[in-house]
Amino acid sequence: MIDEEADRRALPGNGLPAERVLAEVRALRAADRPTHGGRLFAYVYDPAVPGLDELAAAAYAGSAHVNGLDPTAFPSLLAMENALVGAAARLLGGGPGSAAPDVVGSVTSGGTESLILAVKAARDAHPEITEPRIVVPASAHAAFAKAAHYLRVAVDPVPVSARTLRPAAADVAAAIGPATVLVVCSAPSYAHGVVDPVAEIARAAASAGVRCHVDACFGGWTLPYLRRLGVDVPPFDFALAGVTSISVDLHKYAYAPKGVSVLLHRDPALRAPQYFAYADWPGYTMVNPVIASTRSGGPIAAAYATLRHLGDDGYLRLAAATRDAVAGLADAVRTVDGLRLMAEPESTVVCFTATDPGLDLFVLVDELAARGWHTQPQQSYADLPRSVHLTVTAAVAPRVAEFGPDLADAVAAARAAGPVALPAELLALAGTLTPEALTPDLVAGLAAGLGLTIPADAAPADAGTAPADAGTAPAGPLPGRTAVVNTLLDAAPPALRERLLVEFVGLLQRPTW
Ligand SMILES: Cc1ncc(COP(=O)(O)O)c(C=O)c1O
Repeated sequence: MIDEEADRRALPGNGLPAERVLAEVRALRAADRPTHGGRLFAYVYDPAVPGLDELAAAAYAGSAHVNGLDPTAFPSLLAMENALVGAAARLLGGGPGSAAPDVVGSVTSGGTESLILAVKAARDAHPEITEPRIVVPASAHAAFAKAAHYLRVAVDPVPVSARTLRPAAADVAAAIGPATVLVVCSAPSYAHGVVDPVAEIARAAASAGVRCHVDACFGGWTLPYLRRLGVDVPPFDFALAGVTSISVDLHKYAYAPKGVSVLLHRDPALRAPQYFAYADWPGYTMVNPVIASTRSGGPIAAAYATLRHLGDDGYLRLAAATRDAVAGLADAVRTVDGLRLMAEPESTVVCFTATDPGLDLFVLVDELAARGWHTQPQQSYADLPRSVHLTVTAAVAPRVAEFGPDLADAVAAARAAGPVALPAELLALAGTLTPEALTPDLVAGLAAGLGLTIPADAAPADAGTAPADAGTAPAGPLPGRTAVVNTLLDAAPPALRERLLVEFVGLLQRPTW
């Protein structure tokens, strides 16, 4: 007899036929945001090239069980990895005949891993510095904070100008001290898509004898192509003598499936402290260039196939399509009363804010979602207002003409709905509560104040209610209308936002039995 409940588990009593299992995965995927179609402006990078998914999937499958743990056992992986590093290095001003002929690198699992390793290499190059520090502009990706946290390195933050959205090179230079092991900058930043003054920052770092990492994870693959298309891209790569390392994610604008980034160092000596080797145990001597030990060959093979298939000409075409899409979206924003671009687009991001208090950006985000456009709200930070971020990829190009009318319509609807008004006592609480004071009971109280409930099957037995569903969502623990939650987060200082989200995600991450 089949136990139906047991049959639904990830590990059923009896194995299930392949078609049924695949149908289940497809059914689960149906609830996801659309990864194709050019209407999702975050998380995914879609070139909309027919056949590319199938090619990458086939390459992935063929190498999924290959293990990067030992490059001598699987030379295919070593060959593909070296080829990817070579391609990234060439694109970013390194390689034979360039100003940086000795560039070396590693393939990592993503931008965060690349940045953690850049910080580790910089830290471990200076064992004599007992309390190492890194200089990080406020606009740099949060992964630097994560790296600093994991590696016990202190951060010296540098503010960014509310006008240019960049740090001043002089402020970065002034933040460098005797314990600084690394200075970082972005090309471009994720939030606003602007390129930092890398030349000046790298010069300041070099004159202090400090490494300079350029985080080109997000846009490093597109900036060189945009430059070739005539866009005025400032110098940001190994052409600048002071740049010692660069990261670029292949799973972003190289359009490879998730799980591939490249970390480049100007020369092998700079890379050396990135490695971890260990022989003091009875098993095999371990030598790892990256954080993971066992590594699937799947992402590497898929990225290799993607680069080989698209080619330089393909990336140039895709960059041109993306540039045109960015221009079209930016025009759409400019024509709507009450919106303002945070910055003139200089890469592949369109970011805008509201100029009139009657237009609530978080409500607008929900109205756009209701019209099938999935944008990314960004909370206010220091003297930067809340904003809406659009990561633009080539797949957006054919959709641009539909965006303008929908944006105007969504703005009108957001104005009609009016701004989210949280109860005054809740706002006051969000402004004054300390993260340490945030008990599960308080989370439940906040949720009740917001009129939120979490469905029983997503809630721990003792959690009561919690901030899960912001009002209009169907059954399921994820928020549908997000404006209420975003407004509460916006009212809270960063440390409290962090705690609230940890509590919330912790509620989502519960085993199914
Ligand atoms: C500039 C920048 N750096 C680092 C990262 C982190 O990359 P990942 O999410 O692949 O870890 C991102 C991700 O968006 C990014 O935009």
